[in-house]
Amino acid sequence: MPSILFVCLGNICRSPLAEGALRAEAQRLRLDLVVDSAGTGNWHAGEAPDERAQRTAARHGVDISGLRARQVTRADFRRFTHIVALDHENLANLRKLAPSDATAALSLLLDHVPGREGQAVTDPWFGDEAGFEITWAEVTAAARTLAPLLAEAVRRDR
Ligand code: 4NP
Repeated sequence: MPSILFVCLGNICRSPLAEGALRAEAQRLRLDLVVDSAGTGNWHAGEAPDERAQRTAARHGVDISGLRARQVTRADFRRFTHIVALDHENLANLRKLAPSDATAALSLLLDHVPGREGQAVTDPWFGDEAGFEITWAEVTAAARTLAPLLAEAVRRDR
C-alpha cells in the first residue's frame, strides 16, 4: 500500500496541513492511504499543530487538532513509500539523514503541482494567519495531484 510522509522543520505548521489535506482528499476519493507527517527538528515533538494551522484547516472543514508533532527517523525511509519535503532545506536534510537501505522516494511537495515545480512552500510561522491560507492552498493543490498518483500505485499493487 502506498504510504506518504510529509516533512517540514517543526511539524506544527506546514506538514500537518499537508497531512490533513491529503487525508481529506483520500477520504473524498475513498482511497486507502497511509498518511503521516514529521519534522526534521525535534523542538515541538509531542505538540499539537500551531493554533493558526488548526484554525486554517478547520475553516476548510478539516480537523488536524489530534495530530502530534514528531521528528523524522531513519526507519521512516523504509517504512514509507514516499517522503515529501515542504522546502529545499528539509529535502537536503532528509537526503543527509537517509540510510543506505532507504526505499522511500524523496521529492519536493511543489514538484507535484504543475507550474510550481522546484518551488518551496514558504514557512508561515513568522507571519500572520493569511500566510497559513497560502500554505493550505499549496498543500491542497499537491494533495489533488498526489492522491490519483498514489491511487495508481494501489492499482498496480493489486
Ligand atoms: P513548520 O514551521 O516547519 O512548518 O512546522 C515551523 C514551526 C516552528 C519553527 C520553525 C518552523 N520553530 O523554529 O520553532
